[in-house]
Amino acid sequence: MFAPWPGMVERAHAAGLIRIEAHPLRAHGLGAYRQVDDTPYGGGSGMVLRPEPLFAAVETVSAAHPGLWRVMLTPDGEPLNQSIVRGLAERRPGLLMIAGRYEGIDDRVRTIADQELSIGDYVLSGGELAAMVIIEAVARLIPGVLGNPESLNEESFSQGLLEYPHFTRPEDFRGMRVPEVLLSGDHQKIRAWREAESRARTANRRPDLLPAAKPRPKP
Ligand code: 6GU
Repeated sequence: MFAPWPGMVERAHAAGLIRIEAHPLRAHGLGAYRQVDDTPYGGGSGMVLRPEPLFAAVETVSAAHPGLWRVMLTPDGEPLNQSIVRGLAERRPGLLMIAGRYEGIDDRVRTIADQELSIGDYVLSGGELAAMVIIEAVARLIPGVLGNPESLNEESFSQGLLEYPHFTRPEDFRGMRVPEVLLSGDHQKIRAWREAESRARTANRRPDLLPAAKPRPKP
């Protein structure tokens, strides 16, 4: 059952820190063939998911688990970022993600969603991978899931900045030396260096992030 989930999610699930259920839309399909899609009104190529199976699935899951926050996965949703992920991780009792397939979803399905999210400006054939991305990003923020919760404050995007560079042994690898400051043992200097590197890296690689980033703390 859990082979599809990556290690951290699987361990969190096994430890009872999170719970994940998958509910195939087919179970709510129409007629003897359990039909879930149909041709688009107005013509055009491809199939569109009908509203009845999606509504039935969402209503069935909601009845079994009242109060779930309904997230619809769609390329035209709000682009996911770490701040949205933090918000999702605080939702109780949890999330109900609606992942469509095929070329489209009947537009009336939007009316049962609390939030519509996209995981980036590219097209996937279905929302399942987007749902798994959200599961992975949210699960690691649930208390107890990560071994070292302090690392959450330092990682990329936590202050709206990219992360500072990391180094481990050896000190000299093929002539590439670990920055001297990291060997100094001067923790104040190390903190200042990391902060500066984080800002420089963000300015170089993702200048779009800087306006929203936390201002530099006073020394
Ligand atoms: Cl949430 N769904 C699909 N089908 N494609 C996407 C996406 C979602 N986010 C980015 N591309």
